[in-house]
Amino acid sequence: MSMKFQLLFVFLFLHKFAAADLNSDRQALLAFAAAVPHARKLNWNQTVPVCTSWVGITCNSNGTNVIKLRLPGIGLTGSIPANTIGKLGALRVLSLRSNNLIGNLPSDIPSIPSLRCLFLQHNNFSSVFPASFSPKLNVLDLSDNSFTGTIPSTIQNLSRLITLNLENNFISGTIPYLNLPSLKVLNFSNNNLTGSIPDSLKRFPSSSFIGNPLLCGSPLNPCSAVSSSSSPSSSPSYFPNPSSVSHSTSKHKLSAGSIIAIAIGGSAILFLLLVVIFVRCLKKRDSGGGGVLKRKIAGSGKGQKPNDFGSGVQEAEKNKLFFFEGCAYNFDLEDLLKASAEVLGKGSYGTTYKASLEEGTQVVVKRLKEVAVGKKEFEQQMEILDKVGRHPNVVPLRAYYFSKDEKLLVYNYKPAGSLFSLLHGNRSAGRTPLDWDARMKIALDTARGIAHIHTEGGGKCTHGNIKSSNVLLTNELEGCVSDVGLASLMTAPLTMSRIAGYRAPEVIETRKVTQKSDVYSFGVLLLELLTAKAPLQPSGHDEVVDLPRWVRSVVREEWTAEVFDVELLRFQSFQEEMVQMLQIALACVARTPDMRPNMEETVRMIEDIRQSDSKNRTSSEAESNIQTP
Ligand SMILES: *[C@@H]1O[C@H](CO)[C@@H](O)[C@H](O)[C@H]1NC(C)=O
Ligand SMILES: *[C@@H]1O[C@H](CO)[C@@H](O)[C@H](O)[C@H]1NC(C)=O
Ligand SMILES: *[C@@H]1O[C@H](CO)[C@@H](O)[C@H](O)[C@H]1NC(C)=O
Ligand SMILES: *[C@@H]1O[C@H](CO)[C@@H](O)[C@H](O)[C@H]1NC(C)=O
Ligand SMILES: *[C@@H]1O[C@H](CO)[C@@H](O)[C@H](O)[C@H]1NC(C)=O
Ligand SMILES: *[C@@H]1O[C@H](CO)[C@@H](O)[C@H](O)[C@H]1NC(C)=O
Repeated sequence: MSMKFQLLFVFLFLHKFAAADLNSDRQALLAFAAAVPHARKLNWNQTVPVCTSWVGITCNSNGTNVIKLRLPGIGLTGSIPANTIGKLGALRVLSLRSNNLIGNLPSDIPSIPSLRCLFLQHNNFSSVFPASFSPKLNVLDLSDNSFTGTIPSTIQNLSRLITLNLENNFISGTIPYLNLPSLKVLNFSNNNLTGSIPDSLKRFPSSSFIGNPLLCGSPLNPCSAVSSSSSPSSSPSYFPNPSSVSHSTSKHKLSAGSIIAIAIGGSAILFLLLVVIFVRCLKKRDSGGGGVLKRKIAGSGKGQKPNDFGSGVQEAEKNKLFFFEGCAYNFDLEDLLKASAEVLGKGSYGTTYKASLEEGTQVVVKRLKEVAVGKKEFEQQMEILDKVGRHPNVVPLRAYYFSKDEKLLVYNYKPAGSLFSLLHGNRSAGRTPLDWDARMKIALDTARGIAHIHTEGGGKCTHGNIKSSNVLLTNELEGCVSDVGLASLMTAPLTMSRIAGYRAPEVIETRKVTQKSDVYSFGVLLLELLTAKAPLQPSGHDEVVDLPRWVRSVVREEWTAEVFDVELLRFQSFQEEMVQMLQIALACVARTPDMRPNMEETVRMIEDIRQSDSKNRTSSEAESNIQTP
């Protein structure tokens, strides 16, 4: 039984009574099974209960209706008669993908009024494009079939549509006006569509439209005056030149002259760009004061005179930047203060700068505020942090400086930024979505980093401030936990509002972070990875999203694509893994601390996802197929 079903069973208490409704659903299913031959046996046996024992069936919580029917890849052949599946009046999810279904798609199926997800890809349906749909549809996937006809304008009525995949069919005609704000995934590729692409769909990449030789307009090539009148008999040279389509001939029509012109233009632009970069570098170098760390630090302190910082450092102490063993850096405090700096962020514990030293080294300098402990204790804590930092998934502390007026920490610089910026920054077109493998890896890296923090230091160490902006990434997208172990140095435990979205419920009362509250915060971080919803809005907004509560409410209601990040929708073959990850996340955000797994267990559970999955994939592809939409 798939994890997905287990997940549902967690939430759906299955009552025994079956009302008349379920009887009619059962009859509809049996009629379907009788009419459509299937290579693998469905154990749809009259004598066992439909809701708990029939393959591919999910019922609603009170067991009165079938709400999901998932039979992907089980060798269904032939065509589906009307009045079978179409009679499942409460159906929300139908997946018959990757079968050998042919012929007509009965019109009563897409128009089931409660239907939200319809997955029919990878069959060979050859009917004309259906005209009437459930107004609640979120996902319509008819790709890789032989559908003909035109895209009906009724699609415009589907205001909840998120995914519309029609690629690899024989759909013709023009694309109707479609203004669907919730639409996130669209693919019309490899059909026979003509005319211009409506303005409202320009936001999709050209790969959503390729393989339609008579289609034009942004993001494909512009429509010429003649081609927009879409007369198929006009000379082919008027037709657009969809960049990635092979049958374009106009590529060869570029004259030698225009090629040279393009080349010259291109190198001119490149040259200009280089000049601009060069000038900017020069400016940065001789900007003297403006960007220098010393000034930044001095200027940022409230009520401090600009010179306070420099004078606060005694002459004798000037080189007392303490480096940890094995650190390859060789600069002193003076070098560091002279480095050009930019503010990376103002966090819970102070301001963070990126400092670029003269010899090209880049480091992160964290300037702590409100340090409560004395020198001795500070140094002891630094020793612990040095030990805790010696793990590939923890950002290591390289050096520190302590004086009465200044406390600075020096870390390695991670150029790829934080998980927060990767997940939530620049989600507009053109960005590379964070794929599922990368997210799995970041989740595991982060879990390992936190588990290391928890075991190192005699099981007493906590992180206390786990959030996506504290997970930094290398260029290879390895996740590293930062901001480790600073909580114990501070006067106030933590500015509570700063961690609001990640804060375990018990921390609100006790104001104490524990390892189990770290687990909770990590669970929220997992939910963030899965849903791409930020538990904390970027600074300036007070709004806090209670992500665990939101996810529970969606999942309790039903399991659909709705809970997952739309950027993950294209990785449908991994939905099993996503659901397993969701389960782990929900276990971590259990309200009572004792119910949460510890970090080591969490690491093992995440590791198991991939292992169990690769076993499934190799041993019984079809078996694992069954439960995925
Ligand atoms: C249905 O299940 C019962 C008990 O599991 C079994 O005895 C019977 O043969 C099954 N009927 C069919 C048609 O498979
Ligand atoms: C079962 O639950 C559905 C909603 O999920 C509701 O519409 C229906 O009335 C319920 N039926 C019974 C018999 O409680
Ligand atoms: C799909 O069906 C059409 C006829 O409707 C047939 O010509 C074609 O070969 C079929 N394709 C596949 C892959 O079975
Ligand atoms: C759907 O769209 C068609 C035409 O585009 C319109 O006639 C019809 O009233 C719409 N239906 C709903 C339910 O909005
Ligand atoms: C594509 O459309 C053109 C004109 O609209 C038509 O002549 C042609 O037969 C169509 N091709 C296919 C494969 O449907
Ligand atoms: C659309 O489908 C085509 C053909 O399967 C594929 O090459 C293309 O990458 C897809 N585009 C998007 C945006 O998914």
